[in-house]
Amino acid sequence: MVLSELSIKNFRNHTHTSIECCRGVNFLLGNNGQGKTNIIEAISYLCLTKSFYAGSDTLVPKFGEGMFEVEGRIVSDGGKPFVVRVAYLRETNEKVFMINGRRVPTLSSVIGKFPIVIFSPEHGSVTTGGPSERRKFLDMVISQSSRAYFKDLLGYRSVLRQRNRVLLDMKLGRQGGNGLLAPWNEQLAALGSAVWWKRHTFITEFSPVVRSVYSHFVDIEERPFLEYRPLGGREFPATQEELSAVFLEILAARENEERRFGTSLVGPHRDDVALTLDGRDLRSYASQGQHKTFIISLKLGEFLYLKSRCNETPLLMLDDVFAELDDARTARVIAYIERVGQAFLTSTHRNPIESWDMNRTEYRTIFIDGGAVAEQKTVVHA
Ligand SMILES: Nc1ncnc2c1ncn2[C@@H]1O[C@H](COP(=O)(O)OP(=O)(O)OP(=O)(O)O)[C@@H](O)[C@H]1O
Ligand SMILES: [Mg+2]
Repeated sequence: MVLSELSIKNFRNHTHTSIECCRGVNFLLGNNGQGKTNIIEAISYLCLTKSFYAGSDTLVPKFGEGMFEVEGRIVSDGGKPFVVRVAYLRETNEKVFMINGRRVPTLSSVIGKFPIVIFSPEHGSVTTGGPSERRKFLDMVISQSSRAYFKDLLGYRSVLRQRNRVLLDMKLGRQGGNGLLAPWNEQLAALGSAVWWKRHTFITEFSPVVRSVYSHFVDIEERPFLEYRPLGGREFPATQEELSAVFLEILAARENEERRFGTSLVGPHRDDVALTLDGRDLRSYASQGQHKTFIISLKLGEFLYLKSRCNETPLLMLDDVFAELDDARTARVIAYIERVGQAFLTSTHRNPIESWDMNRTEYRTIFIDGGAVAEQKTVVHA
């Protein structure tokens, strides 16, 4: 898909900003603090119904304003046009999402319709941070490509919250009956095994994609790998039914421990994915450059995976990604990106096209200054 126009009102430091975008690489350029990332954030509202980093919508309306609006014109790969509009009112904390003038009944129904891959410096923590960062990554990719997964995941979280309340009550002696956990265990195992199953299937398919992308950016042979072992040393079952039975078995075996801790200790909410390079743990051994190349490969792998799963080319947002990369590697990454679809790149560089030795002929440069567009033009590069 392609975003052809974007218009935002009272969004962060933008009062009213409109941009026209090209089908290839769009550069959002300008000095620090001028409002480049805010534009990426606005596009994330169109595709994900929310900010890709802010924890709350209430932070987003321009200071002194009670609402914000984002409107975009999107054309699908098949040529179908969409006008997508998000409006948020702080007073009532209400967010309205409209597609072609019709309000969508639930925000979750939008996920996956307009796929997007966003890569910003915070995403570096997927390779350097704790397990929750990698779970977030998994959930973002799989949810966009499978509505069933997203539904199971939301269901799992809801059952988990309620089961945790029961366990905490048991720990505090507020309730103690033996049969109390059984119905929660059934639901937790049913939804949890569905999540486990889909994560397992995803990683099996995704790991070779990452390896193939990674090989574009390095001359030497380095083999990245993603490994998922939710059951520890135990072999992963051959069917989802067996997996659900194993889940229940583990719950039974650890019930006393869970009662003692007053919380659920088994399930997808405790998962991790091991990231390795040539068989060695990335977090313990990799250099900064290797981390960076790994995370770029994860993100571009996510792009290729979503493209094939959603039957729609995702938008690719790269926020401040090239700050630490040398010019040669930057040029390789951009050469890769410009072949795959529409991309938005932010940079403080005045003239990235010349200095990165780009080989495509047409780009769009959009200069942002003080929450407004100072200049936007299509650049033809000889
Ligand atoms: N709700 C808001 N209302 C008005 N201004 C805001 C709001 N939230 C953030 N800002 C302002 O937006 C600016 C930051 O914008 P943004 O993060 O898009 O900058 P940037 O161009 O990406 O800069 P950098 O190159 O440093 O990443 C800051 O000046 C900040 O004060
Ligand atoms: Mg920024």
